[in-house]
Amino acid sequence: MRACYPGSFDPVTLGHLDIIERAAPLCSHLTVAVIHNPSKKTLFSLAEREEILRQQLAHLDNVSVAHFTGLLVDYVAQNDIRAVVRGLRDSSDAPIELQMARLNREMQPACETLFLAATGKYSHVSSSFVREIARLGGPIGQLVTPEVARRLQQKLESKEAL
Ligand code: PNS
Repeated sequence: MRACYPGSFDPVTLGHLDIIERAAPLCSHLTVAVIHNPSKKTLFSLAEREEILRQQLAHLDNVSVAHFTGLLVDYVAQNDIRAVVRGLRDSSDAPIELQMARLNREMQPACETLFLAATGKYSHVSSSFVREIARLGGPIGQLVTPEVARRLQQKLESKEAL
């Protein structure tokens, strides 16, 4: 079964990587689909987010990285994808995730969403808090890989220099 794992990945966290590594063996192919929303400001550009993901996922044979604009269900239909994978961290993720899954299936009945329960040690990890902690000089070594931490530091230094 071809599946996709959509998200902003600004930047990819250990929680995302855990979901991808666990989902990949369940699919024939898993596309990590980075959302490109030109009206939403991100810390990393689309090209950077894709590049970082490719580097972090190079060890997974059946995983590729792509981007999409517009509706997820359109991307899914155009790419012959059977299921959308999402991670659930805790009960506060559930309402919005269920709403998206149901809306997506209403728009595209063939589009199923499969949820993986986040591993406990990552249930508090989010890209937005990673960005905030990094911006404020805090430790992010438990939240992202060393390479992502390095890219974050580099990005924040280049922003300060502006
Ligand atoms: O990493 P995120 O921000 O949790 O990912 C959210 C994402 C990209 C899965 C969601 O915003 C999405 O699917 N956006 C695409 C636009 C769309 O299809 N919107 C209708 C959702 S019901």
